[in-house]
Amino acid sequence: MAVHRNTFGEGLTAEGEGQTVSDTVEAIDALPPAPTPSPLVEEVRTGLQKMPKRLSSQFFYDAEGSRIFQEIMHAPEYYLTRSEYEILDTYKADLLSLFSPDSDPFELVELGAGDGLKTKVLLSYFNERKVDFTYAPVDISADALDGLVDDVHQQWPGLKLTPQHNDYFDALEQLSRASDVRRVVLFLGSNIGNFTPNEAVDFYQQLHDRLQPGDLVLTGFDLQKHPAIIHAAYNDRQGLTKAFNLNLLRRINSELDANFDLAAFDHYEVYNPETGEARSYLVSQKAQTVQIAALNMTVPFEYGEIIHTEISRKFTQAQINQLAYATGFTVVGSFTDSKGYFADVVFAKR
Ligand SMILES: C[S@@+](CC[C@H](N)C(=O)[O-])C[C@H]1O[C@@H](n2cnc3c(N)ncnc32)[C@H](O)[C@@H]1O
Repeated sequence: MAVHRNTFGEGLTAEGEGQTVSDTVEAIDALPPAPTPSPLVEEVRTGLQKMPKRLSSQFFYDAEGSRIFQEIMHAPEYYLTRSEYEILDTYKADLLSLFSPDSDPFELVELGAGDGLKTKVLLSYFNERKVDFTYAPVDISADALDGLVDDVHQQWPGLKLTPQHNDYFDALEQLSRASDVRRVVLFLGSNIGNFTPNEAVDFYQQLHDRLQPGDLVLTGFDLQKHPAIIHAAYNDRQGLTKAFNLNLLRRINSELDANFDLAAFDHYEVYNPETGEARSYLVSQKAQTVQIAALNMTVPFEYGEIIHTEISRKFTQAQINQLAYATGFTVVGSFTDSKGYFADVVFAKR
């Protein structure tokens, strides 16, 4: 007799004729132990029950995901990193004047720092100029954060560094702690694009509630442009974005003992210039059933069924100004690259 959780792991059902209570108890005892609760466990358990199915892009970044993302940043189609690098390099002196007009010390808190490729332009410049600051990178990916911390220690051994392996939103709580120096929060790389409009407003409101008047937030916004340029950025010819999305299934296989057949899923991207949203999907290439042993979960897929994995929103300058205004900030600096593809915008808390 097979005893199993129902399709989505909720409750137990028993199959077979003439079963007894003791049969059932014995079979329950044979179930694997419940998995330790974790954000990934919660996401998989709930996200794969939704219609349409979804898994958040924040789970892309295990060691392999962070490695693939580094390759994406160098892909010819992925203009975002080059554009933002150019902005930070061109305007680093202007940014320093905004961050520390009187050469006062400050704390540079970076949410979702990743490998810090572009932030290092600022770290290097501030270090050369003997600026008094502390760098506080936050990332949910321990692999990305460890790599960044090693690099910073190696390149600038004297730099004051307070890394935090944490979720952005939990890290925001810590900003409520009193600070005797100005806080400058970095949110680079179009991370803001992963939020829905309501989530973005909520994010800046939370920042506003925790920062002091005069504290700053520097955000990297990807701007609306020819839709073909945006579409290509998430459809690179080398297949890196596809591998990045599929890696999420590989991660679930390895961490939750699942049996996703990666060859049976494809990647599909769509950019809607009316909403400014690029959306990434994994597509089941056949009718199939996936077992996630650690969750006692069986997930059926129809042919062509999708898992929504990422939203990447693109902004107009007017939307950025409106976001600042609506959440209690004033725009005090706005810098774009030479192609006008990307903007790094500094908000000050009113
Ligand atoms: C698109 S990468 C950008 C990295 C870097 N900011 C840049 O501009 O190159 C996103 C980074 O944010 C981190 N991240 C995603 N969701 C997060 C969350 N909820 N809390 C903390 N970090 C998160 C990921 O681990 C990853 O390193």
